[in-house]
Amino acid sequence: MVNQSRMLISSLWIAGAAAFSNDVVFHNRRGQTYQNTRSFLASSTSSQTDLGDTIVDMNKYNLPLEEVANEWTANVVAESSLREAGIYLGAKNDKSVYVDTLAVGIPRRVGEGLGIQLLEIAGGREDGLGITVVDGIVEGSCADGTEVLAGDSIAAVTLRKSKKGSDGLSDFEQVDSIATECFGYDKTVEALMSLPPPEGEGEVIVLTLKRLRRKPKVTVKLQYPPQQNEPDATIELFAGENLRRAMLVRGVKLNDPLSLRFDSGGTGNCGADGTCATCVVGVLQGDDLLSPKGQQEEQILKKNPRWRMACKTVVGYGQQEGDMTIRVNPRQWDN
Ligand code: FES
Repeated sequence: MVNQSRMLISSLWIAGAAAFSNDVVFHNRRGQTYQNTRSFLASSTSSQTDLGDTIVDMNKYNLPLEEVANEWTANVVAESSLREAGIYLGAKNDKSVYVDTLAVGIPRRVGEGLGIQLLEIAGGREDGLGITVVDGIVEGSCADGTEVLAGDSIAAVTLRKSKKGSDGLSDFEQVDSIATECFGYDKTVEALMSLPPPEGEGEVIVLTLKRLRRKPKVTVKLQYPPQQNEPDATIELFAGENLRRAMLVRGVKLNDPLSLRFDSGGTGNCGADGTCATCVVGVLQGDDLLSPKGQQEEQILKKNPRWRMACKTVVGYGQQEGDMTIRVNPRQWDN
């Protein structure tokens, strides 16, 4: 059954439903029930290593709004060195979609709410857990023109106030912070309303937002030396993948028997140490999608500037996506 009601202030409309049971079971607004599996989240933010500084507008990877409601899920996560045990937002299709985390500041105005419309897409539990997302922004409101987007879910709300430092410069101090991740509509509103009302200028609400994005992909066309009689192949890699590991996992034969080790002059695979060069590939197109060469790689491959050591190369550098063409075992080609 679907309930809907509207509430003014910060503006929201709820579409929740009843029913719950022993685990994280929600009823969404379409009346479907789904149950989250107990799973551990892998990295849920874009702050992965090896990706380099982001050089693209990450919003181009946002999931289309019509897919967002069906893609959010909540995961029961056991305690680990990375985070406390709890229930966290995740993506159902976490192979190709991930949850990014952003902090967005919204200046407050006396007598006004934030102007964020909320929609509960899963809830109906006695403990108030659920999934609530931004449904829209009220025109002219405090949140209008900020980075808050429909489909985002609010994971925490922090109130900061400016204060004058001894040097006369303004600084912000944190007054209050409330975690709201995996809250249903009512509990989210309760958290927002529990903050003291704005008293004057210099107050900012910082929202920690979770946003669903697809993982950027790089499509790699592989060409094998003619004598190997292997047809061209195409593989898809996610930004941030190590080129050698990704190729080996996908069954690409990489080791070049013509290669001599840089350290000993002998043959053999160094296991991604950057000294054997058996993993070298020739890049015909798309080298701007790769991480820059390190000093050792530059030195070893200086006679062949279009070659890369796959073991020392990350694709989709800076969160880029695009197409590449690569020659496997470039020593076996005539040129
Ligand atoms: S595997 Fe040895 S240099 Fe890449």
